[in-house]
Amino acid sequence: MPIKFDSATQAFAISSAKFSYLLQVLPSGHLAHVYWGAPIEATSIPHALVTNLDRAFSPVPDVERRGFSLDTLPQELPSYGNSDFRSSAVQVQRTDGSTVSNLRYKEHRIFAGKPGLEGLPATYVEDDSEATTLEIDLYDDLSGLTATLSYSVFESVGALTRSVRLTNGGTESLNLDRVLSASVDFRSDDYEFLHLTGAWARERDLYRTPLRPGGQWVESRRGASGHDHNPFFALVSKGAGENHGEAYGFNLVYSGSFIAGAEVAQYLTTRAQVGINPFDFNWLLEPGESFQAPEAVLVYSASGLGEMSRTFHQLYRTRLVRGQWRDRERPVLINSWEASYFKIDEATIMKLARTAAKAGIELLVMDDGWFGHRDNDHTSLGDWYVHPEKFPNGLEPLARQINDLGMTFGLWFEPEMVSPDSDLYRAHPDWCLHVPGRSRTQARQQLILDLSRTDVQDAIIQMVGDILSTVPIAYVKWDMNRNMTEIGSALLPPERQRETAHRYMLGLYRVLETITARFPEVLFESCSGGGGRFDPGILYYMPQTWTSDNTDAISRLNIQHGTSFAYPAASMGAHVSASPNHQVGRETSLEIRGAVALAGNFGYEMDLNELSEQELEIVAQQVALCKEVRGLVQTGDFYRLKSPFEGNETAWMFVSSNQREALAIHVKVLSRANAPLSWLKFQGLDAGLQYEVTPVLPASEPIIIGGDVLMNVGLRTNHGGHDFDAHVWRLKAV
Ligand code: DGJ
Repeated sequence: MPIKFDSATQAFAISSAKFSYLLQVLPSGHLAHVYWGAPIEATSIPHALVTNLDRAFSPVPDVERRGFSLDTLPQELPSYGNSDFRSSAVQVQRTDGSTVSNLRYKEHRIFAGKPGLEGLPATYVEDDSEATTLEIDLYDDLSGLTATLSYSVFESVGALTRSVRLTNGGTESLNLDRVLSASVDFRSDDYEFLHLTGAWARERDLYRTPLRPGGQWVESRRGASGHDHNPFFALVSKGAGENHGEAYGFNLVYSGSFIAGAEVAQYLTTRAQVGINPFDFNWLLEPGESFQAPEAVLVYSASGLGEMSRTFHQLYRTRLVRGQWRDRERPVLINSWEASYFKIDEATIMKLARTAAKAGIELLVMDDGWFGHRDNDHTSLGDWYVHPEKFPNGLEPLARQINDLGMTFGLWFEPEMVSPDSDLYRAHPDWCLHVPGRSRTQARQQLILDLSRTDVQDAIIQMVGDILSTVPIAYVKWDMNRNMTEIGSALLPPERQRETAHRYMLGLYRVLETITARFPEVLFESCSGGGGRFDPGILYYMPQTWTSDNTDAISRLNIQHGTSFAYPAASMGAHVSASPNHQVGRETSLEIRGAVALAGNFGYEMDLNELSEQELEIVAQQVALCKEVRGLVQTGDFYRLKSPFEGNETAWMFVSSNQREALAIHVKVLSRANAPLSWLKFQGLDAGLQYEVTPVLPASEPIIIGGDVLMNVGLRTNHGGHDFDAHVWRLKAV
C-alpha cells in the first residue's frame, strides 16, 4: 500500500519506488512534516522530529510544554499567529479582526484513486489503481475552519500531488488572506534554488543560486503565470547535475498570479512553498462554503535534474493533458503569422496552403487578422465575425478548399480580450475588468474581458462555439496578449473585489472545460504572446503551448531547454521561421532551424512562397523526417546532454521507452578555429544493445555502435567550420 497509517505513532508514510514522504500527528494535534526524500522503509522516524527544543525567542503556545514551539517544528500546513514566525501557508481573518488560527488534526481518509478538484485543473487517474490519496482534516476550534489536505501518490510515475481545501464550518464569515497549496519544511539550507525566469521573447532562462537566509521567491502579480517567472522551482543539492544529486521540484497547476519559493529561517531550516499569490488576494468564505486551492505537483529525484524532469514529463503527458490529442501524433502545421501578419485574405492563405500541402504539411493555421475589421492590432477583438473585405466568401469555403488540398484548417482566437474599438465594447462597456472612476489601462490597445462574470463566460462560449460548429476547424490557437490592471468586476460587491483575479481563472477554466468538451476533436494550442502562460493549469485544457514569440533557432535553444525542466516536448510549439529572423535579425540555415524545431511540436511560420525550389525540397525532407520521429519526440524519455546555459553547445536526446529507438540533436553555436576535440556522450540507451546510428543531418551512411560505447565514449562533434552548426542522428537497435 503506497500510503500507510501507523495508529501507534500517528504517522503517515506515502511512498513510491522513487520517494518516501512522511508526516505525523503530534500529541498536540499539530501535523508535522517528518521526511521527504529517497525511499525508506520506516513509517516514522522519532529522532527526525525534535519537538522539544528550547530556543530563545521561539514562543511556547502551551505553558505545560516548555520547549515546544511551532517556530522550530517542521510542519505540513503552517498557519500564522501562535508561535511560528516563518512564512505561513494559511492566514484567515475572523469577524473580530483577528488573524490567528490553530489547526489541529481531526480525522483522515486513505483511499484508492484521486478525486478531481472542483472548478480547477488537476492531474487525474483513469483507473483507481493508478494513485492512492490521503486526506487529512485539520480543524480550528474557535473559527470552525477545517483545512483538508490532500496528498495523492502516482505510484508508477513517482510523483506526489498536494492541495488544500478550506471549509467554513462555523457561524461567522471568514476572510481568507492566504491559502497556499503546498508547504514543505526541509531540515537544512543545503540546497540551491533553481527557477525559470525571463521576459517576452526570452522566456524561461535557467537561474540557479545557493539558498541564503531569508526569503527567495518568484511570483506573478499579472493575473497570468507570466513570461517573467514560471510557477516552477526546484531545490537541488549543491553541485547536483543532470544525472547525480538530489532535486525537489515544485510546480503549481494554476494559470494566474502565483508565489513560489523558499524561506531560510534563523536555524537554517528551509520552508518551500507554492500557491496562489496572496498579494491583492482575499476570499470571503461564508458559513458552509469551501475554498479549493490549486494543486501542486511535487517531484523528488535522487539521481539528478534529468530524472526530475522526466517524471514531470511523464505525469503531464499521460495524466494532466486530456482528450483525443493526448496520445495522437500532432500535425505538422504552417502558421500565417510570420508569413504575412495582418495582411491575409483568401488568396494569400490559399497560396500558402498550396505550397505547404506540396511539402507534406498537414495543417494550415490562419493567425490574427481574419475577423471584424482587424487590419492591425488597434481594433476588433471581441467581434468574432469574419472580416468582410478579406474573406467575402466567409470561412467555410476557405476551410473546405484547404481540406481539398488534404490539409486541415486551424484558426486563431483571442477570446478573453476586447478592443475599445469594437462592436462588443460599444455594446458592453462594463464587460471588461475595470475599477469605477479609474482609467482603463490599455496594453496592445486592448482590455481584458471580465471572465469572473458568468454572462461574459457564456458569451465567449457562444462566440467561439458558433464558429467551431459551423466551420470545419481542426485546431485552435487560443491567444492572450496582455496582463491584468485595474482588477475589478462590475458584478462583485466591494468586499469581494479582491476575489476578481481568482474568479477570472475559475471562469476561464469553465470556458475552456465547456469548449474543449463540446469540441473534443479540435487540437487546442495555448499562447500568451508566446510563452506568457506556459503552466500545467493551461496544459490540462490545451495539450500544447506556443513556447515563445521568439522563433530564432539559437534563442530557442535556451527557451526550449529551460522549458524542458518541467514541461515535456509534446507541450512545446516549435516552428521554423524566416532568415533573417524577425525577432533578432539573425541569419541561420534552414537546416539548423529545422533541427531545433524538431524537438517540439514541429511547424513552419514563414512565407513558404519566398523559398527557392531547393529550399522547398529541404522543407519537404524536414516534414517527412518529422513525421517519422514525432512519435518518439512526443512520448520518448528526454535527456539534456549539453546545456546552452553552460557553453557553446546544446544537445538533446529522445529515447523510446523500450530503448530501441532514439533521436539526438546537437547544435554548436559559434565556430572556433583549431578547436579542441569535443565529444557527445549519449544517455538513456541500453548498454547491451547495438545501435544503427544514422546521421540524418547532414546525411551520411549509418554505422553500428554499441549502446555502451555511445554512452561512455560518445560521438565526436567537431563538425563544420561555421557558426550555427546542427547535427541530427537517428538510432535504432539492431
Ligand atoms: C501573439 C502570438 O504569440 C503570435 O504568435 C501571434 O499569434 C500574435 N499574437 C497575433 O496577434
